[in-house]
Amino acid sequence: MNVQLHTIDQGAGPPVLLVHGFPMDHTMWRFQIESLAASHRVIAPDLRGFGQSPIESISSKIGVAMADYADDLARLLDKLAVEEPVTLVGFSMGGYISWQFYKRHRQRLRAMIQCDTKAAADTPQARETRFKMAEHVEGWGAAHVATLMVPKLLAPSTLQGNTKLVEEIGGMISRTDPVAIAAAQRGMAHREDSTPLLESLDLPVLYIVGQDDQISTTSEMQTMADAAPDGRLVTIPNAGHLSPIENPTAVTAAMEEFLASLPT
Ligand code: MLT
Repeated sequence: MNVQLHTIDQGAGPPVLLVHGFPMDHTMWRFQIESLAASHRVIAPDLRGFGQSPIESISSKIGVAMADYADDLARLLDKLAVEEPVTLVGFSMGGYISWQFYKRHRQRLRAMIQCDTKAAADTPQARETRFKMAEHVEGWGAAHVATLMVPKLLAPSTLQGNTKLVEEIGGMISRTDPVAIAAAQRGMAHREDSTPLLESLDLPVLYIVGQDDQISTTSEMQTMADAAPDGRLVTIPNAGHLSPIENPTAVTAAMEEFLASLPT
């Protein structure tokens, strides 16, 4: 399917492609877009069905594979005439998609930043939970998904001390098309184990994790960083899973330092 992705394309310089998580949209990167665009070309799409990008209703039944989202991104780079290799930044589901992008479009990559994500496939129990949501989300409505997910996405300090952010994230999830939610859940449930890829990554990789991330833990991400030949981990204080929004200053600084260190 040739999908037209709603995309922010801002700034000039080496290209950086920001891939959002589930069930979110490009606005989760707003702090990073603003800062990085001073020295880079920042490209931040809404994935198929998320934010302002369309999706076919049949996708809720058949799912969208991580490889399909990755191919959407490669087509987007063609459409935007981005010929230079990009630094690919994947957050959580965006990270699962990045592993597929690496496998399918390696020549388009300069470096990777993997943020609050995993390499492992789902456990059987996690897969069941995804299928349940995929089956029922159109009846429940996305607001119910927000109720289920928000407590897991944010650090206890954010949940207790930042009502505005809690409401903002809940609103973003509640506005998501249930078709996109079902499609992505099926795609994530079927995703392969990318752990074998880690030790063969032949490019610089920065791993970033919020210190209170309950979904992709610091120890899991440390293991990933240790396996990569040129990988390192930065742990973000005062943040859970949604570190790019919960502590944007620290995440953006880590990204900027890494980007500045890349060979030209
Ligand atoms: C995300 O933030 O993209 C999700 O937590 C990923 C997942 O459900 O595994």
